[in-house]
Amino acid sequence: MISKKTNAALNEIRSRVIAKGNVSATDRYISHGKGAILVDVEGNEYIDFAGGIAVMNVGHSHPKVVKAIQEQAEKFTHTCFMVMPYESPVRLAEKLCDAVPGDSAKSVMFVNSGVEAVENAVKIARYYTQKQGIIAFESAFHGRTLMGMTLTSKVKPYKHGMGPFAPEVYRMPFAYCYRCPFGSEYPSCDLKCADHLEEFFVNHISAEQTAAIIVEPVQGEGGFIAPPKEYFKRLKALCEKNNILMIADEIQTGMGRTGYMFGMDYYGVEADITTVAKSLAAGMPLSAVVGKKEIMDSVHPSGIGGTYSGNPLACEAALAVFDIFETENLLEKAEKLGETLRVKLEGYMERYEVIGEVRGVGPMIAIELVSDRKTKVPAADKARELVKYAFDRGLILLACGTYGNVIRFLMPLVITDEELEKGMTIVGDGLATL
Ligand SMILES: Cc1ncc(COP(=O)(O)O)c(C=O)c1O
Repeated sequence: MISKKTNAALNEIRSRVIAKGNVSATDRYISHGKGAILVDVEGNEYIDFAGGIAVMNVGHSHPKVVKAIQEQAEKFTHTCFMVMPYESPVRLAEKLCDAVPGDSAKSVMFVNSGVEAVENAVKIARYYTQKQGIIAFESAFHGRTLMGMTLTSKVKPYKHGMGPFAPEVYRMPFAYCYRCPFGSEYPSCDLKCADHLEEFFVNHISAEQTAAIIVEPVQGEGGFIAPPKEYFKRLKALCEKNNILMIADEIQTGMGRTGYMFGMDYYGVEADITTVAKSLAAGMPLSAVVGKKEIMDSVHPSGIGGTYSGNPLACEAALAVFDIFETENLLEKAEKLGETLRVKLEGYMERYEVIGEVRGVGPMIAIELVSDRKTKVPAADKARELVKYAFDRGLILLACGTYGNVIRFLMPLVITDEELEKGMTIVGDGLATL
């Protein structure tokens, strides 16, 4: 155990022993955190607008989460749910069945990472439908395993040089209105991007061979792309007409990020299968596949599972997260946070030409930076400059987007007004320098 090391000393060791491809956005090593604040090993403080990439919606080291993990660690840390089951995954599954949008009876399986949930959602969809084809979207991100990176759209850095990819995955344009792939404008387009699914069956794969479409309600890594409100209803109706399942990848949108418990609550759509991870267990590695019971229960015994599936520490942490949402009215807070952020960012957009669009749902909000509002040329260099400007002043910001020119806001939902104000002032000052 290393103690009292400086950031520079840790970077030196790291350069020798951590694989180069496993990068970090910053070169500071965190000692501890609380709410929306992180402190590094040298005592420097940071306001966290990244939340460990949408994982810390309830904030760092929430006392209820800490207590839940500590108490469970004293009892047992692992038995394997497939060998000797225990209560927490059962109670957590009840919560998830209740919380995931839609009235259908549901059941749940647990795994460890987001992409593992995606893998299992695909397995289950294929098993249930006895079909193979999966349709994913342009600018989608679904993870880094073989199936995850196959479903993911952006080539560099996620897929480049790492093929061949998994078979039977097809890609369709998304409802990216700011850069409409059909060159149309909303609403006069009448959502031809959703209707394109039927055209897709002519030129790419037949409906009879398509098991599922997988879609993020608001694309995360792709640039916080939120389709128009009616888009998912249209898409779901087409799926139903063609006997295709809809998998909602709520790994980034879920657990209150959009001001709704799940992104599909905003869109008023019940997916057939939903993947949940990230903020589910406040940083403990836990993910879930939540689906209509008939679909989930179709798989034969041991067709799904895993050694750490439903780890007891992670499940107790997730139960604490649900408790925090209820007792601290976190969804209300999230909604308010979303409104404050939108007003602030739209104000910045009036002042700074570099912002081409403010978009998102609730506090899952982002700004897309462009070098010219007419041509919309993506300004990835400006996004990098802004991230650096903020970091030099103690604010952790994250860029995203297919072109790397989107700044996304993923602060813990429990951030205080003062921390938010301080962070947003740095963002505003940074925009003024670009
Ligand atoms: C929508 C979505 N799906 C899947 C994943 C993969 O999750 P993990 O990194 O936990 O495997 C991510 C991660 O960013 C994500 O945002």
